[in-house]
Amino acid sequence: MNVRIIKAEEAKVRTDCLIIPFFDDTKPAAYSRIDEKTGALISSVVKAGSFRPGFKKIMLLHTPQCSFSMVLLLGMGAKKEITSERLRQAGSAALRMLCKQNISKAALVSRVLAGTPLKTEFPAAYYFAEGALLGSYEFSGYKKKKNDSRKIKSLDIISAMDKRAVAELKASVAASMFARDLVNTPSNEMTPSAMAAAAKSIKGVKVKTLDVKEARRLSMNAYLSVGQGSKESPRFIVIEYKGGKGSPIVLVGKSVTFDSGGISLKPVDGMEKMKYDMAGGAAVLGAMKAVSELKLKVNVTAILPAVENLPDGGAFRPGDVVRAINGSSIEVISTDAEGRLTLADAIGYAVKFLKPRAIVDIATLTGACAIALGAEAAAMMGSDNELMDRIKKASDDTYERVWQMPLFDEYSEYLQSDIADIKNSGSRTGSLMASAAFLKEFAGSAPWAHLDIAGTAWSDKERPYSPRGATGMGARLLLRLVRDFNK
Ligand code: BES
Ligand code: MN
Ligand code: ZN
Repeated sequence: MNVRIIKAEEAKVRTDCLIIPFFDDTKPAAYSRIDEKTGALISSVVKAGSFRPGFKKIMLLHTPQCSFSMVLLLGMGAKKEITSERLRQAGSAALRMLCKQNISKAALVSRVLAGTPLKTEFPAAYYFAEGALLGSYEFSGYKKKKNDSRKIKSLDIISAMDKRAVAELKASVAASMFARDLVNTPSNEMTPSAMAAAAKSIKGVKVKTLDVKEARRLSMNAYLSVGQGSKESPRFIVIEYKGGKGSPIVLVGKSVTFDSGGISLKPVDGMEKMKYDMAGGAAVLGAMKAVSELKLKVNVTAILPAVENLPDGGAFRPGDVVRAINGSSIEVISTDAEGRLTLADAIGYAVKFLKPRAIVDIATLTGACAIALGAEAAAMMGSDNELMDRIKKASDDTYERVWQMPLFDEYSEYLQSDIADIKNSGSRTGSLMASAAFLKEFAGSAPWAHLDIAGTAWSDKERPYSPRGATGMGARLLLRLVRDFNK
């Protein structure tokens, strides 16, 4: 779907459907010109009480005598309760309804939305369009019979949004879509080398991939051990974007392209979903693509330690001890706590070679995260409060919500090993925080924050603007974080 910002006389717009938002106190008189053209159809349904403008309430009216063949009355609820998130949800609800109507063009009258006390960076139409676009996502899939609904080609918005806002809107939505596509693609196709190819498809960045030999030379054995049991060769992907001066912000994305658990094999139920264990890497790729498209004036380096976790005769085993890039020895208690092993070397690589200004890792790291926070927020922990404040701010803006969990020193005791410097897993209690305590060992004194997106990167049910499957969690958030870093 193509979004265009247009200048036009509302009552004369040529389109299939004109979208007209109503707050609970909006009078039909606010749309008198349009109402006139429809032969007072709008004012009569409002006056008769057949349309009540509660949030996301929708009514479709046919208006064959107008330059638009339908109007969609869209309830927005109370004006004082308006938020950017309500706008996203309303945008998605309206467009999803129109998708079912075999329509190819729609136009939004945004004037009433613009007259609200919304305290946001962008005008209301921005968030409406963002929801509309995100909600129209569909994974093209592998079926012979293609789904033929959702074929709206364009959404015209009568508004005064500026070029920069439109560019940012398109880039950030594309970032989420890119991430969703990568995550929805099954593991037999989305292999570590396919992730490297996805990285190389991004324009305006430098991509370097280390193979097994090169990773071994750097002693990244924690990462390499995870891939030992798979025929897919690991790819340690480093993406460099240079748009400014000084040290880079480093984004690390967990990129386990399939997590069977390895020798500590996962149960059968739901194992097919473990294709989404590279969702952190996908979010980072989405953000990098947008950062480069928008030519942001910062330096960002992304690291994706891509690998597949399978159990064959060469697989690593519980009890093995491996040495990471920083020299720490790690006792592997569970081969299913593999994500942190890959991140240990990725974070260690950043510390050793990149003098990072900040490190943010994003990972589907623990089932415990999904238990604690459900699908509503990512867990955040880290060593740097200023960095976490920035993340919190970005997440409030994009509504990819985060919730801080504690990282008390005592959690590190959960991972004391009898024979190595650290073990990769303790008991079940506190395992969300223990996983972050593990990563902290490798970040050293660099400002670092960790986002666990195990509960939010995938959804088993349709959400307000994301269908079942990959949500794209984190892509817009990371883009916003990077964009605002110099502020
Ligand atoms: N990829 C999983 C975490 C996960 C679970 C993500 C469910 C999404 C949904 C991770 O590699 C894992 O297996 N974690 C273990 C750690 C444990 C062995 C310490 C877990 O959370 O059970
Ligand atoms: Mn695992
Ligand atoms: Zn995993």
